Amino acid sequence: MSAEQDRKFFDTFMLVLGSLVLITIAIFVLANSMAGRTQEVHVKEDPAYQQRNLERIRPVGQVAIAGADNSGLRDPGGPRPAAAAMPAASAQPARDLSPEDIYKGACTACHGAGIAGAPKTGDAEAWAPRVAQGMDTLYTHAIEGFQGQAGYMPPRGGHSNLTDQQVRDAVQYMVEQLPE
Ligand code: HEC
Repeated sequence: MSAEQDRKFFDTFMLVLGSLVLITIAIFVLANSMAGRTQEVHVKEDPAYQQRNLERIRPVGQVAIAGADNSGLRDPGGPRPAAAAMPAASAQPARDLSPEDIYKGACTACHGAGIAGAPKTGDAEAWAPRVAQGMDTLYTHAIEGFQGQAGYMPPRGGHSNLTDQQVRDAVQYMVEQLPE
């Protein structure tokens, strides 16, 4: 073979190679844009996909309202990090929990930030008229639950395993957090 033939072969070879690469890129781009318009729509309509998404954005907690139909509030199950991180107050009715433990486990969810109308712990203005009712009323409302103007306070903060004394301790702890 002459050098002339070699060069000709090389040129043709590179031309073929180059066009194959171009065709590959073109097919890739075309497939991508088609999949975007067709497949993605179906993926998003897939009930299993939607179910998984709903599961991921499920609210951490739901409030049961007295007198309303609460049957839809059952936890669909499965471990959830917030519950695991919760101090023992909800897991076992241990007697040796400090008032602070009880408060953190059962009350801070609402009272910490003032969720759903709950008077915020340490907020003197919100607590003044409540404390004025007397501690016994606060104990009773915390143990038995209380529907007030601001919202609904569930019995024992929703932690039915707490004893009366533990709830009283938590109420006392909350009141003690008020500025002097
Ligand atoms: C699901 C949210 C929630 C949780 C959890 C919760 N509370 Fe409350 N609590 C409320 C709301 C809302 C109110 C205000 C009700 C109103 O006055 O309208 C309230 C009010 C109170 C009051 C004032 C009652 C009154 O007579 O003014 C006390 C005391 C109280 N909570 C104690 C507790 C204690 C103790 C715990 C923990 C064992 C607890 N709460 C957990 C929502 C909650």
